[in-house]
Amino acid sequence: MTEVVPLRIVPGESIHLLDQVQLPHEERYLRIATVDALCEAIAALRVRGAPLLGLAGACGMAIAATERGTTDDALRLAATTIAATRPTAVDLPAAVTAALEFALALPEPEREAALWAYAGEYAARRVREDRALAAYGAPLLPAGAAVLTHCNAGALSTGGIGTALGVIRAAWEQGTLAHCYATETRPLLQGARLTAWELARLGIPATLLPDTAAASLLATGRVHAVITGADRIAANGDSANKIGTFQLALAAARHGVPLYIAAPLTTVDFDCPGGATIPIEFRDEREVGGFGATRWAPEGLAAYNPAFDVTPDDLIAAIITERGVARPPLGSALAALRGGATVA
Ligand code: MRU
Repeated sequence: MTEVVPLRIVPGESIHLLDQVQLPHEERYLRIATVDALCEAIAALRVRGAPLLGLAGACGMAIAATERGTTDDALRLAATTIAATRPTAVDLPAAVTAALEFALALPEPEREAALWAYAGEYAARRVREDRALAAYGAPLLPAGAAVLTHCNAGALSTGGIGTALGVIRAAWEQGTLAHCYATETRPLLQGARLTAWELARLGIPATLLPDTAAASLLATGRVHAVITGADRIAANGDSANKIGTFQLALAAARHGVPLYIAAPLTTVDFDCPGGATIPIEFRDEREVGGFGATRWAPEGLAAYNPAFDVTPDDLIAAIITERGVARPPLGSALAALRGGATVA
């Protein structure tokens, strides 16, 4: 099986993005060589998923240096523009800011090459951290486990093996996973289009369900764990993820099924004290009343379309990171992991 590569770096030139809007029907790479093209791709979800947005952001700073030059002003303006494209996933502004600070500390003639190298290292780190995270997460699942996941937290969302899907993949490779249920993930169908595609490639037995069937599936007792990614985790453990995660967490708690969040420490925003201060992206109302060129709702009807919701820390059994597993109380456990502790 060939690995999914959602983003390829051509140092000094451009990046090539697997256009996730076209999946699963078409595997088409887009050449991105300008900041504007990158911002369009991020806003349209051609590239998506918190850790991959971090990588795209780091690459964006390298693209900016090649396209617009390496003065302080040019790089600062590019950073502000890229970081503002989607508000919820903290990896995006964090990676852009880190790349900017790294470049500003260098003499101007060295910045462009250094930013491309920085982006390459960021990509390599994604691969390493996903593997480490999966190694911590897989043992949490019981033998013969069936899991339920939401949205897409696979290779398409990180550039490595994924976070939640990385754990699921590792458990499958170790022989402990029996089945994976995947929600469709309305309105943009990341589960039906992307996770289902990845699960099929991995050969993992899978079942797709409408988001609205999750509580009734949990009530059957067939699911042993719910596992998802996150876009931003507050310092106290409250976790923002794809809209619908909160209601999955409520249904899982009602049925005694643990909910695990799998995310690298770059997704933890230690400056954000709790979920109430996580910025939630609201998207175009037309995404709810149709898909692509097809519409089923009357034109002009109002729609409520938050892209993410926040699951409070007390509904989360553990947060799985590349440095170990944070268990309740999540706030102090995350702080310990950040400080360098390794918790198995
Ligand atoms: O709107 P999206 O598709 O970018 O939302 C993605 C998610 O909610 C993922 O679960 C999250 O980013 C984690 S990806 C490892």
